[in-house]
Amino acid sequence: MTAASQTVSRAAVVCGVGAALPPHIVTNADLTARLDTTDEWIRSRTGITQRHVARADLSTTDLAVRAAAQAIADGQPVTVEALVVATTTPDRCCPATAPAVATRLGLTGIPAYDLAAGCTGFLYALATAAGFIAAGTVRTVLVVGADRLATLPAPEDRTTVPLFGDGAGAVVLRHGSAGEAGALGPLVLGSDGTGAGLIRAFRPGALHMDGADVFRHAVDRMSTASRQAATAAGWDVTDIDRLAPHQANSRITSFVARQLGVPDDRRLGNVGDVGNTGAASIPLLLARSAADGRLKPGHRTLLTAFGAGLTWGATTLTWPDLPLTPLPEGAGHDR
Ligand code: COA
Repeated sequence: MTAASQTVSRAAVVCGVGAALPPHIVTNADLTARLDTTDEWIRSRTGITQRHVARADLSTTDLAVRAAAQAIADGQPVTVEALVVATTTPDRCCPATAPAVATRLGLTGIPAYDLAAGCTGFLYALATAAGFIAAGTVRTVLVVGADRLATLPAPEDRTTVPLFGDGAGAVVLRHGSAGEAGALGPLVLGSDGTGAGLIRAFRPGALHMDGADVFRHAVDRMSTASRQAATAAGWDVTDIDRLAPHQANSRITSFVARQLGVPDDRRLGNVGDVGNTGAASIPLLLARSAADGRLKPGHRTLLTAFGAGLTWGATTLTWPDLPLTPLPEGAGHDR
C-alpha cells in the first residue's frame, strides 16, 4: 500500500448510530408545580417543553450501554476495537465508565476510556477516535456521549433545573476513505479556561451557571468553529444541508444558524423534547433525526458544540446511508 492510499484508507467513517433516553419524562407543568416558574418562561427562553430524567436505578453506564448497543446493531457490521465514553457525569470518580460499558457489550479486553470536555465531549471523543484510526492503532472505534445532567442543578434552582435532561447517543467509526459518505472532515476544537467559572459544579446538586455570559460565548464559539470546520472541509458554510448543533437551547442554536447564514429549516433540533443532554446531545440528535427522516443520506452536515471549560468544536460529514430501526421513544422533532 502506498503512503497516499494508506492516508486515504484511514479516514474515520460513521457506520452506525444509536440513542437512549430514560423513560421518565418531566414536563414544564411538573416543574411549575414545584418551582417559581412558568411554562411560558421556560419555552420562550429555551424552547424546552420536557426533558427525560433518569431515576436512581438508571445510571450513566446503563444509558451508554443502550445507545452503544443500538449503534452497533443498527450499523454496518464491524468488530469494535476501542471505546471512548464522553461524559461529565460518570457514575463514580474511579474507575472510568468505559471499561464497564465495554464489558457489558461483550467487548472485554479492548482499549476503553472516558473523556470529559463538558457538552463538547462528543466532538473531542470523535477527534481522539479519528486519531486512533488515522494512526492505524485500531480500525474501528465506538464513541459514546452519555450524561445525566439533570443531577447537577440544585433541585430548587429555577434558573438551571429547566434546562437539563439525561440521555446517551453513540456512533461507530470505521476506517475508510476521506471521500466516502460518513467520513469525518477536519475537527476544529478549542478551550478557554478563563471562562471556567461560567459553568461549574463541584458535586451533583451544586451547579452554578452564568446564563447570559454562557449564551453569548456559546453563540460566538459555535459560529466561529462552524465556519472554520466548513472552510477546512472545503465547504461553503451556506451550502450546508443540515446544521446539527449541541442542543443547549433553541435560542442559541437559532442565533448560530442566523450568524452562519444557514436557513432555519436546515437546523436540526430536539431540545424541546429532551433538554440539554450534554455530551449525549449531538449523537442523540443525529440518531433521532436520521430515524425521523429529517437527516437523509447525502446531506452535508455540520456538527458543532459548546460547553463547560469553556470548550467548543465543530466538524463535518456527509450523512451516510445506514440501516436504521425506528427509535422506541418516538419523540417528535422540533427546533
Ligand atoms: N422562571 C421564571 N423566571 C426565571 C427563571 C425561571 N425558570 N429563571 C430565571 N428567571 C428570572 C431571573 O431570576 C431574572 O429575574 P430578575 O430580572 O428579576 O432578576 C429573569 O428571569 C431574567 O433572568 P436572565 O438570567 O437574565 O434570563 P435570560 O433571558 O438570560 O435567560 C437562560 C436565562 C438561562 C435561559 C439564558 O441565559 C440561557 O439560555 N443561557 C445559556 C444556558 C445554556 O445553554 N447553558 C448550557 C451551555 S452548554
